[in-house]
Amino acid sequence: MKKWFAVIGDPIEHSKSPAMHNVWFEEMAIDAAYIPVHVPSHQLEAAIAGFKTLGASGWNVTIPHKTAIIPYLDELDELAEKMGAVNTVVRTKEGKLKGYNTDGLGFVRSLEEAVGKSHKDKPVLLIGAGGAARGIAFAMQQQGYMNLTIANRTVANAQAIIDELGTGRAISLAQAEESLADFGILVQMTSAGLVTGDFSMPFSLNRLAKGAIVADIVYNPLMTPFLQAAVEKGATVVTGLGMFVHQGAIAFHYWLDEYPNTNSMIARLKAQLGGQ
Ligand code: ATR
Repeated sequence: MKKWFAVIGDPIEHSKSPAMHNVWFEEMAIDAAYIPVHVPSHQLEAAIAGFKTLGASGWNVTIPHKTAIIPYLDELDELAEKMGAVNTVVRTKEGKLKGYNTDGLGFVRSLEEAVGKSHKDKPVLLIGAGGAARGIAFAMQQQGYMNLTIANRTVANAQAIIDELGTGRAISLAQAEESLADFGILVQMTSAGLVTGDFSMPFSLNRLAKGAIVADIVYNPLMTPFLQAAVEKGATVVTGLGMFVHQGAIAFHYWLDEYPNTNSMIARLKAQLGGQ
């Protein structure tokens, strides 16, 4: 029987996940479909009951349901439990709903695809302390990045993540700007670079270390103002597109036990987003 998958969120119309997964199904001759479903918060429980009844094999979860969905699931993967957020639900063979979070690991895969795995000892500056930042901080720690500092506009939010990690430092954006030369890897995780946002930079990169690696989790625009400034400083930059594609590929693997082609998908989406 044809399998079906979905992404639920509010809003949902801008999601690129359906296009990505449906291309992979076609490329790999998998008889399945992936649809976007608009689910407002007050209908989350009913939507999940409907998915169960109608036999969805799994689905992705986006804003604003990543945490709210947890009480409706039967099991949580260890990383999702730590993060307190789920972006992927798998319906197991036994019919149970298991929640995963592939965002953070998707970021680490994208980073390591771009610059290799030999940078784990470098001091990492994570900028931002929202939901995305939590996921990336836990995944980086799990993958062996041990020297983590989180800078945020509201330092208390950064400190809360550091307390949960059990290691690292929380600093202000001004302190980060001041001590920028100490960091080998920077990850921009605030919503300041979003296409719909105000395009403000979280801070200036004047003191960026030579040879630094600078990543952004935003992929639309591909070259955020932050990455543009990093390029001008001679940094190696990693756009947010790889994270998006890898989080999807890891979810795909959980659902179907096969790994899709991430390179061709990154190239395809890059062309759509106006990159070379
Ligand atoms: P997401 O789920 O994408 O991480 P979020 O949870 O709303 O989104 O978190 C947004 C992050 O961007 C936070 O770190 C926020 O800082 P605060 O914790 O101080 O709110 C940060 N942020 C948003 N707008 C910002 C701006 N103009 N300058 C600096 N930081 C900003």
